[in-house]
Amino acid sequence: MTSSSSSHNNNNNNNNNNNNNNNLPTTPSPLIPATLLILLCLPGLYYLTPHILPPPPSPPISFPDELQDLTLFRRATAAEHKPTKSRLGSTNSKPKIAFMFLTNSDLHFSPLWEHFFNRSNRDLYTVYVHADPTVNPKVKIPGGVFTQDRFITTAKKTRRGTATLIAAARRLLATAILDDPANQFFTLVSQQCIPLHSFNYLYDTVFETNSHQVAELSQLRYRSFIEVFSENPYIWDRYNARGENVMVPEVPFDRFRMGSQFFTLTRKDAVLVLRDRRLWRKFRLDCIKPNSCYPEEHYFPTLLSMEDPDGCAGFTLTRVNWTDSVDGHPHTYYPNEVSAELIYELRRSNYSTPYMFGRKFSPDCLEPLMEMADEVIFRD
Ligand SMILES: *[C@@H]1O[C@H](CO)[C@@H](O)[C@H](O)[C@H]1NC(C)=O
Ligand SMILES: *[C@@H]1O[C@H](CO)[C@@H](O)[C@H](O)[C@H]1NC(C)=O
Ligand SMILES: *[C@@H]1O[C@H](CO)[C@@H](O)[C@H](O)[C@H]1NC(C)=O
Repeated sequence: MTSSSSSHNNNNNNNNNNNNNNNLPTTPSPLIPATLLILLCLPGLYYLTPHILPPPPSPPISFPDELQDLTLFRRATAAEHKPTKSRLGSTNSKPKIAFMFLTNSDLHFSPLWEHFFNRSNRDLYTVYVHADPTVNPKVKIPGGVFTQDRFITTAKKTRRGTATLIAAARRLLATAILDDPANQFFTLVSQQCIPLHSFNYLYDTVFETNSHQVAELSQLRYRSFIEVFSENPYIWDRYNARGENVMVPEVPFDRFRMGSQFFTLTRKDAVLVLRDRRLWRKFRLDCIKPNSCYPEEHYFPTLLSMEDPDGCAGFTLTRVNWTDSVDGHPHTYYPNEVSAELIYELRRSNYSTPYMFGRKFSPDCLEPLMEMADEVIFRD
């Protein structure tokens, strides 16, 4: 677990030797040559240092981007503070589910999602897309839900294994909070996710409309569906991915949690996530151990387990197959694996609700999935 620390120490020593080899004059000597020598050495040191020293953890998000995010998050949390009397009950808008698509490629499964959303549910959902601006995905389905105005304008480039994925999810949450007060659940999905049930089935499940009167909806205490666990052989490595003792005092090891990236949060928890600055200060730091670095799988479960443990179901609605995972990637399903049996299998869960979404699916699964959409996927 600490195997890499010895090599870091060696590196530090190398660097010290290099500094000593500069042989800065110890006896009084003309000032100008000494200064010149330092100036000449500086560029060399500058280029050498990154190769010798492990780079100190630094934020992968630029200061202007960070400021822009902070402003957005402040607006969202401030809006939430305003008197909320009319927020649900007295208006005639029903509570909605906000679908937040996080993508760095085309939304391959948009035809399937269009089918899922079913125009007759128009007043029960909202759609937001955070698309990597360097990719600029095109979704052109006339009259569809993925219109250009659903692509959030604050989207930034994301990079695997960095806090940019946390920032992207928070931008989506803030945009959805500000956009529609009727948004009560916030579901994060990627371009590789597919629905495993109909929209109505999902809606009834998260709002528990089968077991409660609709009139009581606003009184209910909804739960966030987010995976939260600490029993894992890799958790120590994950905790120390930014260096040892970096996370304290904000995140002691016994409060650090893991979970899956894809969640469905209540409005309460979404606001809580946007209000956080304390934990973000730590989780935004760049990792020095890339193989242990998945900040988006740690930040949300750790924060919510600290701030709202009773409001979290402790499991996610998104099924992922980690069997034989390679390089931190879960199993990807290809067309020859797609069958009704697979959908039924992926729905099956050990928790109180079945899985509602599955990942990851390769883009060419679209055709077989569309073929069984009505008969299998949207038949609950
Ligand atoms: C949409 O929902 C309506 C009412 O539930 C249903 O009759 C219709 O078949 C659905 N359409 C699609 C495309 O699923
Ligand atoms: C999970 O992936 C493995 C291969 O990585 C495969 O053998 C297995 O059938 C998959 N499980 C499900 C439930 O799809
Ligand atoms: C449910 O729990 C059993 C026993 O721990 C486990 O083998 C199985 O993989 C779990 N199923 C899912 C879908 O996680």
